[in-house]
Amino acid sequence: MREIKVFAPAKLNLYLDVLGKRPDGFHNIETIFEKIDLKDEIIIKEKGKGLKVKTTPSNCSQGRENIVYKAAYALFKEARVKLNLDIEIKKRIPVSAGLGGGSSDAASVLKAVNKIFKLGVPAKKLFSIARDIGKDVPFFMLNSPFAVAKGAGELLEKINLNKSLFHILIKPSIPLSTKLMYRRIDKCSFSTKPHSLKGTLNALKKMDVKALEKNYYNIFESALARDNVHINRAKAMLADRGAEHSLLSGSGPTVFCTFKDKEDAKAVFRKMPKDRDTSVFLVKTYKGGIYGDNRG
Ligand SMILES: Nc1ncnc2c1ncn2[C@@H]1O[C@H](COP(=O)(O)OP(=O)(O)O)[C@@H](O)[C@H]1O
Ligand SMILES: [Mg+2]
Repeated sequence: MREIKVFAPAKLNLYLDVLGKRPDGFHNIETIFEKIDLKDEIIIKEKGKGLKVKTTPSNCSQGRENIVYKAAYALFKEARVKLNLDIEIKKRIPVSAGLGGGSSDAASVLKAVNKIFKLGVPAKKLFSIARDIGKDVPFFMLNSPFAVAKGAGELLEKINLNKSLFHILIKPSIPLSTKLMYRRIDKCSFSTKPHSLKGTLNALKKMDVKALEKNYYNIFESALARDNVHINRAKAMLADRGAEHSLLSGSGPTVFCTFKDKEDAKAVFRKMPKDRDTSVFLVKTYKGGIYGDNRG
């Protein structure tokens, strides 16, 4: 019996724009992704009969409805195999939070199972399986902590940057589903705030956090409607403790701020209230792979 442990890091969007809806129902986006070292842990055991997927705690879809089940099933189909796998996902990444946890779980399982069980599905094919499973999944297949994504998220360009950023994350207690947030975007008129991917990208490459903050943009901030109170509260919590600029990640509700220096991040983090309603995390750019190393 084989048993493997792999990790699945969360992501932040340092910039996120939705350009419009396409005839196929997907949206064209422009985003900058960063992997962070808040990770789910996935135990893959070769045992039993058929494919079993569960999470602990069970705070998201289980079994066939879990995105990892869909990924493994699609991989088996491509490789024309049926493995007996028991997959347990230890969730540390908040669900429906704008942190891409499910997508990352799917990517890690695709990579790990293909390799460990020598299924021989070529990288290109593996990538297209990823693309068909979810918009954020291709990024997590990429072996790079930072990337620009366009198209529906599958046109990726690695950002060559061997540095780390630090962030404080606040996850308000409300979940926001990505689907719902896109529906809101389709209805509302887009914000007129001037913004460009280039500005954020240049700031990131220079590790100029002030410029990065100045260029922060996430179109979903203009589609928060009544959920705005929770986001504003999270932003105020950071601002009150010295982190003046913060941004929504993905379709929310997680809000984050950025530091170049670890000690600065720690100093603000220590001041954050620890109550039951709000989860607060201190994280770093994740440069490791699915086996869990975080170099640098
Ligand atoms: N492995 C998984 N981890 C987290 N959520 C999952 C997983 N599999 C399926 N889901 C479902 O995906 C949805 C969350 O996805 P989404 O709305 O895109 O949020 P986000 O990507 O911001 O975490 C929830 O309905 C959850 O039940
Ligand atoms: Mg998602």
